[in-house]
Amino acid sequence: MPPTYKVLTPNDLDSILNPRHEFAREVLLGLSKEEKSLPSRYFYDDTGSHLFQQIMELEEYYPTGCERNILTKHASDFTDHVAAKPFNLIDLGSGDGSKTNLFLADMLQRKCDFTYIPIDISEAAIREQGVELEMRFPDLNVAGIVAEYFNGLLWHSKLSDRRNLILFLGSNIGNFHRSQARTFMRTMWNLLQPGDLVLIGFDLKKNIDVMVRAYNDSQGVTRDFNLNLLQRINTELGGDFQIEKWRHFASYDVFSGAMESYLVSRVEQEVTVEAVNQRFHFDAFEPIHTEYSYKFLESDIQQLAADTGFTIVEQYYDDRRYFVDSLWRVEKVV
Ligand code: AVI
Repeated sequence: MPPTYKVLTPNDLDSILNPRHEFAREVLLGLSKEEKSLPSRYFYDDTGSHLFQQIMELEEYYPTGCERNILTKHASDFTDHVAAKPFNLIDLGSGDGSKTNLFLADMLQRKCDFTYIPIDISEAAIREQGVELEMRFPDLNVAGIVAEYFNGLLWHSKLSDRRNLILFLGSNIGNFHRSQARTFMRTMWNLLQPGDLVLIGFDLKKNIDVMVRAYNDSQGVTRDFNLNLLQRINTELGGDFQIEKWRHFASYDVFSGAMESYLVSRVEQEVTVEAVNQRFHFDAFEPIHTEYSYKFLESDIQQLAADTGFTIVEQYYDDRRYFVDSLWRVEKVV
C-alpha cells in the first residue's frame, strides 16, 4: 500500500470536537486542578440563559438598568457617529435584544442606511430575535450570523466594506481576565478597518456593598444561575452532583477588582462525571470557582484602549456613574 495522508479540514473535526466534548474536556480540566474551577461561559444553556434574563430584571443587579439608562439618553448620539454613510451595526451578544432595540428605533427613524448583524453561537437565539425584529421593525435589514464572535466577524469582513459599528454591551468584557480582555480587543482590532467603531459596556468600580448585593440577590436567582452549572453537568455529562449539597458564594476581591463567584461544597463528598470517567473528591467547604466579573477604573479603560490600538471617542455614563458605555475607534496606519 502506498503511504497515504489526509488533510484535515474543520468539517472533519466538527464531529469530534463537538461542543459536548469541549464541555467535558473543560470540566475534567477544571475539576482536576488543585483550586477547582468551571468556566462561566457554560452558564448559558437554555435554563441558564433564562435565569440570566431574570437576573437582568432584578433591581439589585444594577448593570442592566444603568446601561438602559445610558442607551435611552444617548441612542441618537451614537447614531450621529455613523449616520453619514451606509454602515453595519454588528451586535456581539444581543441577549433579549431589548437594549439593541433602543438603537434600532433611532436609526430607522432617522432613515439611516444600515444592516443589523447579530452574531451569536446559538441558532435559536438568532432565529427568535429575527422573528421578534420582523414584527417590531418590518423595514429593518437583518443578516444574523450563527458563529463564535470572531469567526462571525471574519466571515462578515469578507462580505462587506461598509463601515462597522460593533456593540459589545452588558460588561461582558468583565468576564475575561485582564490579559484575556487585551487579547480579545486586539483580535477584534485585527478584524476591523481603520475608522470602525466599537461600543463597549464597562461596569465601574463603586461602593463594594452595591456590587456584592448585585451578585447575591435576595430572591436567589444568581444562586440558581450558578447551581444550574452543576445541573448541566448532570444532564449533559452524566454527573451525579447533589445540588442541595452546594451553596453559592460571591465576594469582591479588592486586589483583582473583580466580583468572584463560587460554588462551595457543604460536606465532604465524591462526585462522578461519566462522560470523563472520573470521580472527583471535594472536602467540606471546598470551593469551585465559577466566574470573574471584573470592575473597571477610568484608567483601566484608557490603558486597555491604548494597549490594543483604539482611541476613545466618547464616554457615556448613567446618571449614577456606575457604568460606562465607551465608544472606541480603530486606529491603523494604512
Ligand atoms: C454576563 N455577565 C456580564 C454577567 C456579570 O455580571 O458578570 C453575568 C452574571 N453573573 C452573575 N450575575 C450576572
